[in-house]
Amino acid sequence: MDWPQSTCYLNGEWLPLAEAKISVLDRGFIFGDGIYEVVPVYYRQPFRFDSHLARVERSTGEIGLANPFDPAGWRALVERLIGTCDAGHQFIYWQVTRGVARRDFSFPADTPPTVFAMTTPFTRPSPVQREQGLRAVTRADERWLRCDIKSVSLLGAVLARQYATENGADEAVQFRDGWLTEGSSSNMWVVRGGTVIAPPRDRLILEGIRYGFVGELCGRLGVPFEVRRLRKDEVEGCDELMLTSATREILPIVALDGKPVGSGRPGPVYAKLRAAYDEAIEALRP
Ligand code: PDD
Repeated sequence: MDWPQSTCYLNGEWLPLAEAKISVLDRGFIFGDGIYEVVPVYYRQPFRFDSHLARVERSTGEIGLANPFDPAGWRALVERLIGTCDAGHQFIYWQVTRGVARRDFSFPADTPPTVFAMTTPFTRPSPVQREQGLRAVTRADERWLRCDIKSVSLLGAVLARQYATENGADEAVQFRDGWLTEGSSSNMWVVRGGTVIAPPRDRLILEGIRYGFVGELCGRLGVPFEVRRLRKDEVEGCDELMLTSATREILPIVALDGKPVGSGRPGPVYAKLRAAYDEAIEALRP
């Protein structure tokens, strides 16, 4: 593989990404026993970093893993990582696993976690994606019942995204028992009659950092915002559909299963949220 020429952090060491190695007995490798984060960086500053740190605390707590750093520790690590990369916009990825131990399903005693972090230059969504929108396909949600944990066990997400790719789509919109949950790696937003509607933050979806952010933006813009369960037919017949994630920011979905969503063009509510999202990013420009 063509390795990015970047520096990463692994268990207290800073080294070229191509030289970072973990044990085959790492529980992240063996069991997917760990959690991760993806933090966008604009103009060399992490975006909504405190919310990401709160989610790490939640994710580690939910799986009985000690958070290896306090907020100041994470901030110092991330600032140093940003300093290793020339790009103004980056995205930081880190993961914490339950460490290296003899293979046994129960938690090992006194095993230090594996902590890995890297940064990558961030190419923001393209004008084509922003102005023409994405295509999505619907799919039954076949993941586990703790999707609120940002777990590195991502096979369900991988299979959902591959299904989308094989069907010429950019994302899979998942439904559990006929109710909207989320995308393979994004939260979903439905607009009906001018109201932005999001599925509740329960165990069936990951609370994206943009989940709270979009709620805030709606409040600021005077766009009605509602949290409730959505049936598949309500999603199929909606006026606008959008997704959010750290790497895709906010993007419109203009086709679902090959049929147009609303007008088949990015809609007016998307345009407002998009502009407000861009403004928040531009506020970080030095
Ligand atoms: N994924 N839901 C799922 C299942 C996700 O994987 C993600 C993000 C989100 C959106 O969360 P946020 O707004 O915090 O990015 C929702 C990241 C980007 C990833 O796995 O690469």
